[in-house]
Amino acid sequence: MKILGIESSCDETGLAIYDSERGLLAHAIHSQIKTHQQFGGVVPELASRDHVRHIAKLTKEVLSNAKLTSSDIDYIAYTKGPGLVGALLVGAGFAKSLAYAWGIPAIGVHHMEGHLLAPFLEEKTPEFPFLALLVSGGHTQLMQVKSFGDYTLLGESLDDAAGEAFDKTAKLLGLQYPGGPLLAKLAENGIAGRFTFPRPMLDSNNLNFSFSGLKTHALNTIKKQELTEQTKADIAYAFEDAIVDTLIKKIARAIEQKQLQTIVIAGGVGANQTLRQRLTTFAKQEHIELFYPRLEFCTDNGAMIAYAGYQKIKRGLQDINLKIDVKPRWLLEE
Ligand code: KG4
Ligand code: ZN
Repeated sequence: MKILGIESSCDETGLAIYDSERGLLAHAIHSQIKTHQQFGGVVPELASRDHVRHIAKLTKEVLSNAKLTSSDIDYIAYTKGPGLVGALLVGAGFAKSLAYAWGIPAIGVHHMEGHLLAPFLEEKTPEFPFLALLVSGGHTQLMQVKSFGDYTLLGESLDDAAGEAFDKTAKLLGLQYPGGPLLAKLAENGIAGRFTFPRPMLDSNNLNFSFSGLKTHALNTIKKQELTEQTKADIAYAFEDAIVDTLIKKIARAIEQKQLQTIVIAGGVGANQTLRQRLTTFAKQEHIELFYPRLEFCTDNGAMIAYAGYQKIKRGLQDINLKIDVKPRWLLEE
């Protein structure tokens, strides 16, 4: 079975073809960073228009790279939500039109299920049950995953997502959008211990997060300093340290409470090297197996959508109508 995957929920147009026998055959991505950079964040209308510009071209590209034609494709999987409504509608409209033209079903996939299952695109895959930390620009969630499609939310951010906190703090430090990776780069030159940021909600016994206070703390710190390059790096270091430390402490609490031995990290912030290094150390100490998608599949992509679609089709969940269906707000547990 061959599935064409389409991702268009935010600022990346991602296309891919997954084969149930041979694995991932091709994937292609167009990033809109340059389009949005001058505005300091994603402009939804521009995102939609840019998806329109690239989606058909990328589809031809993945078909050609996989040496396939449209008649080889059995299913289409597209991101149904959550995300920007206009951007989602471009992907959904395109998916359903292709489904009609090619006479095959198109099914809607949850974007975060795509992120969560991205490690299954690698050779060595996690075993159920596992704990998943989903850390993206829009979500910070701890999920207990018992099998494909069986997801229980254990805790989440009550305000800003981790990626959002990275991006907002980066903006305060004068970095361009998306600031997460740039802040991480800056933090490499930071001196440990010059600033200390709070670890929000570590005292509370639940598995929720709160990151909006870190941005305020950064703002107050910046106001009191002359903002030299070194000071910026020191603030970036302290900020990243606080986020990573908080994420790991809550992960530790979750695996203890739920008696889990396997962790999956997914979503854009999963590309953060400090988080990866410290989690690797932690996992070794605790004899826990740790799984990540490869770096390019941490951020948004079509491969994860094709794979999540494949698993949904295997479970018999097919949506064969041609209704252009999106859900800008959508809980994964639903
Ligand atoms: O999963 P993703 O590509 O899109 C969403 O679904 O949100 O995640 C994007 C987020 C952005 O906030 C970006 O700044 C953050 O992931 N990010 C990082 C790094 N790479 C991407 N944050 C910290 N360190 C990184 N290396
Ligand atoms: Zn994402």
